[in-house]
Amino acid sequence: MTQIVLTGAGGALGSHLVSKLLAHDPQLEIYAICRSAATAAGLLDSLPTPNRARLVPLIWDLCDSAATSAVAGQFIGSGPLLGIHCAADVSWRKSAAELYAPNVLASLNFCEALRQSNRSARIIYVSTAFTRRDATDFKNGYEETKALAEREVFTHYSDLMPTTFSCSLVTGAGNDGAISRFHGIYPLLKVLSIYNPPAVIGDPRKALDIVPLDWVADELATHARALTAGFGYSDEVVATAGPAAAPFKEVLGLAENEIEAFRRSRGLAFVRPTSIVSRRQFAFLNRAVKTWDTPGSMTRGMRIWSRLQLLLDGYANYLESSQVRPPKNVTRPAPLAVSFMPVVMRYWLNRFGREIESGARRYISALDDREPNSKALGVDTFPGDPEDAR
Ligand SMILES: NC(=O)c1ccc[n+]([C@@H]2O[C@H](COP(=O)([O-])OP(=O)(O)OC[C@H]3O[C@@H](n4cnc5c(N)ncnc54)[C@H](OP(=O)(O)O)[C@@H]3O)[C@@H](O)[C@H]2O)c1
Repeated sequence: MTQIVLTGAGGALGSHLVSKLLAHDPQLEIYAICRSAATAAGLLDSLPTPNRARLVPLIWDLCDSAATSAVAGQFIGSGPLLGIHCAADVSWRKSAAELYAPNVLASLNFCEALRQSNRSARIIYVSTAFTRRDATDFKNGYEETKALAEREVFTHYSDLMPTTFSCSLVTGAGNDGAISRFHGIYPLLKVLSIYNPPAVIGDPRKALDIVPLDWVADELATHARALTAGFGYSDEVVATAGPAAAPFKEVLGLAENEIEAFRRSRGLAFVRPTSIVSRRQFAFLNRAVKTWDTPGSMTRGMRIWSRLQLLLDGYANYLESSQVRPPKNVTRPAPLAVSFMPVVMRYWLNRFGREIESGARRYISALDDREPNSKALGVDTFPGDPEDAR
């Protein structure tokens, strides 16, 4: 019997994949690598009771190289083993040096554990479609370390017959909007919902490639099954919307429709749709407001806007360019944003409604102050850093 070892099993993609794989194949057993006992307990709790016995949680901080052999020794059994490596630090704001251990070293340790299991193991390395293993230009340390890890895996662990599975920005599931962690596009949604900012930096016509979690997990599960059944090996799968991706302006409009309904239902004004401006326009406006001695509220508004834009800095790179890999080896085209974005938005607004409402009220009352500081506005703490997304 084939067994699967999944890292990042408690994460957004990993946790969805676990329930999908277990539900599909009643014989399958999954070793779920979790960094902490708390994550493992949460994962077990999220499963229907009959499926829990087929999930074997193993606690391992993948950066702990010394534990590799001990973990490999726990992959008991004789059949082939498929490793699916979902664990990563997905921060867009950390440097490549900071991300080396969680993204590169961790990948190599996982490969080593698979090899030491002596069970004709294979690996699916999950990555981002905004980079590729031979890329040399990166938007951030995240992309750089994901590409480096992929190269290292293919160079040093070819015996594991690696496949790279790359996806674009993952949102909640298309059927109900659910997802267990909120990074990627969600911090941007927070800023839009709470601050209703006058503008964000981006290019309205450039496609924003987003894909729903259930479609991504389906494609990954299908590929995993094909590998374990022994047919169809390809060294890469790219799960992106590609030419079907909607322009950023359209995605923003879909999000704003839901934000507007939410704000009205809470008695919060929705002042205007957010404009999309270029960096040059943004810099010009910023300078102009300072130079023209504009009324206090406008200068204040601009200062706040600049602060928000700093928070969104990591995003601008993705909102200005449609540079993403085209779909490859997927079984179905990705759904259109218009079919899942409203559901995704409603799930998220429902889940964080109280937090968003109180953030918006705090922001509105701080705007009335003559000299609001960023602390009073909450922009230092909430939504704060795009990493503060959970
Ligand atoms: N989400 C996206 O939009 C997106 C887009 C493209 C590609 N991807 C790729 O998809 C994969 C899954 O992403 P995700 O969105 O599911 O990320 P996620 O929700 O942040 O989950 C990452 C998981 O990795 C675990 N992890 C991180 N460092 C670890 C370590 N040192 N040891 C053990 N476990 C560790 C985390 O453990 P804890 O539970 O302890 O935090 C978490 O469960 C990643 O490889 C990512 O690069 C994601």
